[in-house]
Formats: sequence, structure tokens, C-alpha cells
Amino acid sequence: MKANRIHNFNPGPAALPLPVLEEIQESFLNYKRCGMSIVEMSHRSKEFEAILGDAILRTKRLLKLDDRFHVLFLQGGATLQFAMIPMNFLTDGGSADYVNTGTWSTNAIKEARVLNKPIQVVASSEDKQFTYIPGPITFNPGAVYAHITSNNTIRGTQWSRFPDTRGVPIIADMSSDFMSRPFDARPFGLVYAGAQKNIGPAGVTLVIVRDDLLARVPENLPVMLKYTTFSSKNSLYNTPPAFAIYVVQLVLKWIEETVGGLENMASVNRAKAERLYRCIDESGGFYRGTAEPASRSQMNVTFRLAGEDLEKRFLDEATKNGLGGLKGHRSVGGCRASLYNAVSMEAVDALVEFMNTFAKRNG
Ligand SMILES: Cc1ncc(COP(=O)(O)O)c(C=O)c1O
Repeated sequence: MKANRIHNFNPGPAALPLPVLEEIQESFLNYKRCGMSIVEMSHRSKEFEAILGDAILRTKRLLKLDDRFHVLFLQGGATLQFAMIPMNFLTDGGSADYVNTGTWSTNAIKEARVLNKPIQVVASSEDKQFTYIPGPITFNPGAVYAHITSNNTIRGTQWSRFPDTRGVPIIADMSSDFMSRPFDARPFGLVYAGAQKNIGPAGVTLVIVRDDLLARVPENLPVMLKYTTFSSKNSLYNTPPAFAIYVVQLVLKWIEETVGGLENMASVNRAKAERLYRCIDESGGFYRGTAEPASRSQMNVTFRLAGEDLEKRFLDEATKNGLGGLKGHRSVGGCRASLYNAVSMEAVDALVEFMNTFAKRNG
């Protein structure tokens, strides 16, 4: 632990790589000898344009995106995407398919319904409290898009393989596993992610969108709710969240240059999750994973202890031992360790050691 920093297992906003935080601190008062801080600088300055350009380039390189994809930086969180997607793409009477795998998918479905858009929920795991990823799923061949949530932050489930939609463009909320592993972007029409888990601070949402979906965007939408506003102006139609984009650029640079790309990022993330799930599975039932094993998330490891009192004691003692952010989401209770990109194996080792000791003393 450096500079009295705890091991941070927060679900988002969440841990950021220490070298990134140090670089921000070092350049904060005087960015690249400009005589001012990044937060005091015009978003039309050459320095900021270089940051934005680099963030876009690194996103394209890390995900091997072809020229049909545009990388956009938006505000309003992933939550605004729930509304923008049907507003922009469900025009001309087209309908969309949704898969419901938890709170965030449910919220996306609700927003489409508020807008009176024709959508169909083609699969759901609500019958078992969203503890698994449903499949195989038959999608409507004429659907404009198929919406999924790639990682379910609250229930701790994740699509290990994306569904075969037979040509229907996939739209994915990747808020809690974006840039944690490589994926083949070609079947995707749009991917969105609030930055505040794997790639940066709160305040910016990264969107990747394909040309053929942009072509569906109608003219008669408010300017800030149209993807084409941002794609035609390189995310600089109005003042963007410049500081958040700067941090995202540094995190992407860290993934590329320090970690060595998404394959390496994924293998570190896999190893961390395996280590923690092994500790849970080998605890003789002291800790119980809440997600079905085949659907387990590598990002959010959710588990329970024998009762709420014991869980409270576990969380209190963890905090005292420098392990933070382990409380489950308020809607489901229990415990959750979020193992995003910046959470090190050392942090997971410390958690596992604590969990083993706690189980021995209380089992
Ligand atoms: C998968 C997922 N989607 C959407 C959201 C909501 O994101 P935001 O707060 O950026 O609107 C969250 C927040 O935790 C999330 O985990």
C-alpha cells in the first residue's frame, strides 16, 4: 500500500492505476509547460485536441476497430444512453430486441418503453433473481438492434461469449467491463460505457457507434440527444468533460503501454477473478457465490456469508484491514468485490488472505 492508500474494491467510481494518478498530480498545475492546468485550458486548444485525438486513436487500436466505427465522448452517464439509443435508432416503425439480465438492462428497457418505442424482451433471467446469463436466444431477424448488458455490476454475472444475433447489430452496455478484455467489435452496432469503472473518472461516457446505425439518426431530435451531433464534430460540438477525457486517455495509454494491450489486461483480470472465486469455493460454504458458476463475472465478484450480522462484521473488519468498497449493492445486500483493471493482484491477494483468516476465526 502506497501513500496510505487502501485496497479499493469500489464498484464505481473505482480504483484508477496509481501511475495515472501520479502523472495527473505531477502535471496538474502546469500541463506540458502551458503555464496552466488541464482544467483551466480551452477545449479547442491544440493540447486538448491532442489528448482527445490520442484517446480516440488508442480506443480504435486497442479494440481493432475498422473505419466504420466512430469513438464519441458524451455526458449524461450510461443512463442517458438508455434513452438515446431508442430515440436515435427506433425510427420508421422499426423494433428492437432486449435481453434482461438485471437492474441496468431493466432500466434500459424502461426508458425505451417511456418513449413508446416498439421493443421486445426476448430473454430474461429474472426467474432466478438475475443470477445467470440466459441462452441460447432467438432474436427477431428484422430487429433494428439487440440490446444486452455485457456485465451485470449488481448481480455479478457476465456474458463470457456474446450471443449470435444472426446479423442483427448488437448494442451493448459495457459500463462495467469495457476495456477489461478484447472482443470482436464487428457484430456490434454500438457499445457504450460510463468511464468510472475501468477507464477513468465519472463524468464521461465512451460510445463506439457504427456508420450504418448513424445513418438511421433522424434530424428532428434535440441537438444534444443526437449521436450525429457528436460524430460530425469529433465530440466537440459543445464543451466536453475535458478533465475526464484526459484521465481516460492516460488510462488507455497505461493499458497499451504498461499492461501491454487487452489480451494481457484480460489475462490479469482472469487470474484475479479465479483467485477470488477459488477462495470462495474452497471455504466449505463459509462464503457463497451468488451467481451461477458458468455466468460468473470477472469484474464484480458477489458473495454472501451465513447472515447479515456476520456480513456486517466481515465488512467492518475488512475496512479496518485496509480493504474498502466490499459492500454489496443496496438493492441486493451481501458482499461484492469489484476487480476492475486498476485493482492489482496484490490487492486480491490481500483480500483472499483476509477472507481466509476471517473464515477460520468465525467458521
Ligand atoms: C452496467 C451499468 N450500466 C449502467 C450504469 C449506470 O451508469 P451511470 O451512472 O453512468 O448512468 C451502471 C452503474 O453502475 C452500470 O453498472
